[in-house]
Amino acid sequence: MEGPREKILLFDSGVGGLTVYRELAKARPQADYVYVADDSGFPYGWLDERVLVARVVALMGELIDAHRPDLIVIPCNTASTIALPDLRGKFTVPFVGTVPAIKPACAASVTRRVSVFGTEATVAREYTRALIRDYAQGCKVKLVGSRHLATYVEAELGGAPASDAQILAEMAPCFEEDGARTDTVVLACTHYPLLLDRLRRLSPWEVNFVDPAPAIARRVVDLLGPAAAAGKGSARGFFTSGRAPQAVLARFGISVLAPATAAG
Ligand code: DGL
Repeated sequence: MEGPREKILLFDSGVGGLTVYRELAKARPQADYVYVADDSGFPYGWLDERVLVARVVALMGELIDAHRPDLIVIPCNTASTIALPDLRGKFTVPFVGTVPAIKPACAASVTRRVSVFGTEATVAREYTRALIRDYAQGCKVKLVGSRHLATYVEAELGGAPASDAQILAEMAPCFEEDGARTDTVVLACTHYPLLLDRLRRLSPWEVNFVDPAPAIARRVVDLLGPAAAAGKGSARGFFTSGRAPQAVLARFGISVLAPATAAG
């Protein structure tokens, strides 16, 4: 007998979480998805840690009341690396976070030179530094904080791409030649895979860019177990500014949820 559809809520500061949604929708097409972007608070990388935690916890309470999700994915490194313990302490819904994929990147690096490329906030977090201490596996790991790349990604999707020089200025420090060359770059901000083609084209040499999205999708499917419902579920999106980028969401198969419905 067919069971109810699972409801999965995704929460990011903007369009970055769509890179995780894309993989999730492939792995679990039967679920109903609500994609929430707190774009009124974008970029999260610029917010003070305490302000960010308070903001995310408050919003999450409203979203849980309004949508009653079975599981929440935070496809945002900047929020996950600081707010996950508070979220898990306060709510009973299971959370799947997104944190820099340092362990698989270091396991895969041949030259033993890895860069972690994320927002300035993510690379400054103790959580990220602990991942390096625990999982560098003898690799030299360089932290590269980018002030503007997430904003360039939002602009690119909004039809106003940043120049090659602007993007190169953000990514250049990822490429180190120190006896050996960096061969692996962890994309530690979910926005960045949306610019992957440009990142590849502008790279001074070929590197392996590690996108955590497929691993997050596998983790969600493991937690949910076999799908109870058959067929394809729905996908709706809500932006806290009330200005959801309809055309961008449509490219990912997501329809815009009216603000009144989103708030419950
Ligand atoms: N997508 C985000 C991340 O993974 C955050 C970008 C931002 O709001 O600064 O870190």
